[in-house]
Amino acid sequence: MRVDVLTIFPDYFAPLELSLIGKARTTGLLDVGVHDLRQWTHDVHRTVDDTPYGGGPGMVMRPEPWGAAFDELVPPDRPPLTGPESVPLDDRAPVLIVPTPAGQRFDQAMAHAFAGERRLIFACGRYEGIDQRVLEEAATRMRVREVSLGDYVLFGGEVAVLVMLEAVVRLLPGVIGNAESLTEESHANGLLEAPLYTKPAVWRGREVPEVLRSGDHGRIARWRRAQSLLRTAAQRPDMLASTAPETLDKHDVAT
Ligand code: ADE
Repeated sequence: MRVDVLTIFPDYFAPLELSLIGKARTTGLLDVGVHDLRQWTHDVHRTVDDTPYGGGPGMVMRPEPWGAAFDELVPPDRPPLTGPESVPLDDRAPVLIVPTPAGQRFDQAMAHAFAGERRLIFACGRYEGIDQRVLEEAATRMRVREVSLGDYVLFGGEVAVLVMLEAVVRLLPGVIGNAESLTEESHANGLLEAPLYTKPAVWRGREVPEVLRSGDHGRIARWRRAQSLLRTAAQRPDMLASTAPETLDKHDVAT
């Protein structure tokens, strides 16, 4: 997968050298380019923002640097992807992800969808946001997705991109050694994961539940399933409410 990030704060992305994302890059599973948006400015102050039309607080990102950056990353002279007599924008077009609190909520299903793409481009907005024409124009070449991490406001898109990239990259085949961890974890099956324990068996007088030490795989699976349901009901009743009844089995009903 190829990922490009456009930002006025490239330093935010130093952690992409670390841990499993860093390893995915060195092993060639992931190719990342972080670009300073100001390289596409031409004035002495390297201006990227201006006052909003219609008034209001704060500043808005001007369209020109974004347009020039996209022209370079996704040249418009490639086979046109839209227009009356051209190939329509299809799933070969890169996905442009614009983190914004005004976007669609990011979740594990979206992470899976992005993990299936060949090319992602992230556009990190700052200030109040990016001039809307940038997204309209980008939509002639890319599949544009405005995405929010949640119902709160960050200073800008950089941290949101780190979060999304981490969620996506760990789903790329080969990034996580034991693929089973991906099927057992929270949100893999619409439920939260059961509590986890490791050694020692007794710590500060607290015992690991006996069932987990029993070696009885059937019992362990049923215990984990019950814990998963209880935890989801306690922490995230909204998730349980949207669980299709046919996915519950008779053990669940008894629980
Ligand atoms: N930028 C600012 N706030 C954001 C949020 N909640 N999600 C994604 N990007 C953002």
